[in-house]
Order: sequence, then structure tokens, then C-alpha cells
Amino acid sequence: MEKKTVRDIDVKGKRVLLRVDFNVPMDETGKILDNSRVYASIPTIQYLVNHGARVIIAAHLGRPKGKPDSKYSLRPVVPRLSGMLGQPVGFAEDCIGPETENLVNGMKNGDVLLLENVRFHAEEENGDPAFAKALVKLADIYVDDAFGTAHRSHVSIIGVTKYLPAFAGLLLEKELATLGGLLTNPAHPFGSLLGGAKVSDKVALMENMLKGRVDFFLVGGGMAATFLKACGYEIGQSLFEEDRVAVATGLIQEVKGNGVQLILPVDVVVTDEVSEKGIHRTVSVDKVPKDMKIVDIGQKTIELFSAELKKCQTIFWNGPMGVYEIPQFARGTEAMAKTIAGLHARTIIGGGSTAETVINMGLAGKMTFISTGGGATMSFLSGETMPGVEVLLDKEQV
Ligand code: 3PG
Repeated sequence: MEKKTVRDIDVKGKRVLLRVDFNVPMDETGKILDNSRVYASIPTIQYLVNHGARVIIAAHLGRPKGKPDSKYSLRPVVPRLSGMLGQPVGFAEDCIGPETENLVNGMKNGDVLLLENVRFHAEEENGDPAFAKALVKLADIYVDDAFGTAHRSHVSIIGVTKYLPAFAGLLLEKELATLGGLLTNPAHPFGSLLGGAKVSDKVALMENMLKGRVDFFLVGGGMAATFLKACGYEIGQSLFEEDRVAVATGLIQEVKGNGVQLILPVDVVVTDEVSEKGIHRTVSVDKVPKDMKIVDIGQKTIELFSAELKKCQTIFWNGPMGVYEIPQFARGTEAMAKTIAGLHARTIIGGGSTAETVINMGLAGKMTFISTGGGATMSFLSGETMPGVEVLLDKEQV
């Protein structure tokens, strides 16, 4: 069901409570290490400002356990946001309460105010209606642009929609259209490159995608070890999920049964120690020594995966191909990023560490779309209901 968006309402002079996902990585000095989530929220904020709304931004940062903690303050976002918007941005020390209400009352059309972390109140996560009402006091309309948090049933995501008309922001709309397109009408061939540590994180997504959607899966990263084990290979000391070997075996059958190809590594980088000091070499998948661990895909696999990706019209990538935090074991992940960036296909990058790699390599501009969601992207592509989307007004509703 299509949702109403900010474009469907007159926001002039209205107080708009805008939920965004500003859960950005920060160092201990409060320096934002990646501002792409802030940047991605600009079109909606700018739209609201240009249309004369009073924009009251609610967001969370980290998991502060329901009480104020300066480490998780959203204050450092203010200068970034202000710089991107080219206008001052106010800051409220608390997301609710009389002082915040005073700040809101003093706002003029086009003003922007960022509220302190909503997770400084335990009520945000436990669904307290009183907390919802305190937030709602600040606004006339609710706009949700926090795709990255749409899989959470928190007060600032769903609780406030009981009391305010709720619309989608432009980022949320774009995420749903782009990721939704992967499930409804992807151009074929459609290849999905999956990596990361755990098979368990990807089972639901693979099951949902293989139903007539994807043409092949390319699997690397830690999760490949579990698949290789399921195929009867020795995987040495590699981290694998023992309890998921049966799941991987089932998936291999299911994939085959649906006429989808599952392409696993043919060679891998192995090491005696997962650190920069580790002695490593590349071996064929049937030659993994008993005392070593798989930490990356090998050169032949890079070539195999690249050749397959070059056949695609649509590519979805989520999860690193190895222990990419250690430069020696990042080659496979970097090679995949470069291959995908060089293609004319529609290239969609899942959030989290995959997005981080692409952004750090300066390749973001070469991808069709980089999702701002981590867990949310996986939930959506797994076919799960997104509470934050469900509660928004449907296009048909008045
Ligand atoms: C994310 O970073 O994936 C979102 O902001 C959600 O954060 P959470 O997993 O702490 O709810």
C-alpha cells in the first residue's frame, strides 16, 4: 500500500515532528565519522523548510539504556546539519518538557530545531503513551523519514501516530520504492552478493528473494564457511554456525528447487591468526588446512564473482567478503566494491558495513542507491512487516 508523503499535505505554519535516523558513528570527541544519514535526511528537511513548516526533529543515537548519557548526545549533529542546510539549527536539551515546549513556541516558519536523543527516556522503547503525548504536544503533524529505524516499534516511530496524522518523508519514500523494486520488478539477470559473518542474518532474506526474484546468489564472507561446510568441505578453524549447517543445506536445496544458482567461493584466504600479524595464503576451497581460518575470498573467486556480476542488470550487495577491518583481508570486499562501481547495472547497496566500505572507498557516487538502513534493510527485504511504515496514512485515506 502506498503511503501519503509530505507532498500530500500543506505544512505551511505547521509544527512538524520529523523522525529521522541520525544514528551516526561518532568518535569519543563527538566527531561524526560518517554523515551520510544526516545528508540523506536533507531533502525532507529542506522541503519542509521551503514550504514554511516549523521543523522539530526527533532522533536517537546509540543505545543509551533509557537515561541521559553525554556520549550519546545529538548535539554534535547540530553544526553538520546547519552547514548542510545553510541555516541555523536550534537544539533542545531534552526531547520533551516545558523548556522544549517554550523553544517550539518561539519557532517561526522555516525554523529547524533538533531534539536531544529520544532514547534518553526509557519510555521511548517501552511504548509509554504518556511519553507519546509529551512528544505530540510539540507538533501538529508527524513525518517519518527514519527508514533505518522503521523496523522498531518505539514511541517516536509508532506511538505518536495514534495522536498525529502521519506521513512519509522523502527518504523513506525513496528507500521503499528502491528496495521494494528489488522485490517486485527487478531487471534480470538479478544477482545478490551476500557476505558478513552469519548465515542466520541472511536466511530470511535469501528465502524471500529466491521466490522468482533473484537469478543467483554469490556468497562470501564468514557465512560462506557454513555453506562450504554444508557442502562437505573442511573449513579448518573458521568461524561457522554449527546449528546453521542444516539450515544452509536446506537453503542449498531450496535455491536449486527454485531454479536459482548459488555460487560459492572456489578459493579463500586462510590465516593462522585473525590479526595484522597473521600468516596468510590463498588456497583452493578443498585445501583449507585444519589449523587455519578462512578470512577472505581468493583471487579466483574475485574473478568468478566479478564475471557473474558483469552479467547482471540488477545487483544487491550486503555484507563484506572477509574480515575487512584488517587490510590484508579486505581485498575481496574492496575488489567487489570496485567491480560493482564500474558496472552499468542498477546497483543497490545494503547499509551498515557494506555502505561504510563503499563510502570510504569514495565509490558512493558510482552506485545507484545506498540504503541508509542496516537491520531495517534486511527486515524489509526479508518480507517482514515494518511497523514504522504500517502506521503511516495510506494514499487512499482522507
Ligand atoms: C540502525 O543503526 O540500524 C538504526 O538506527 C536502528 O538502531 P537500533 O538497532 O539501535 O535500534
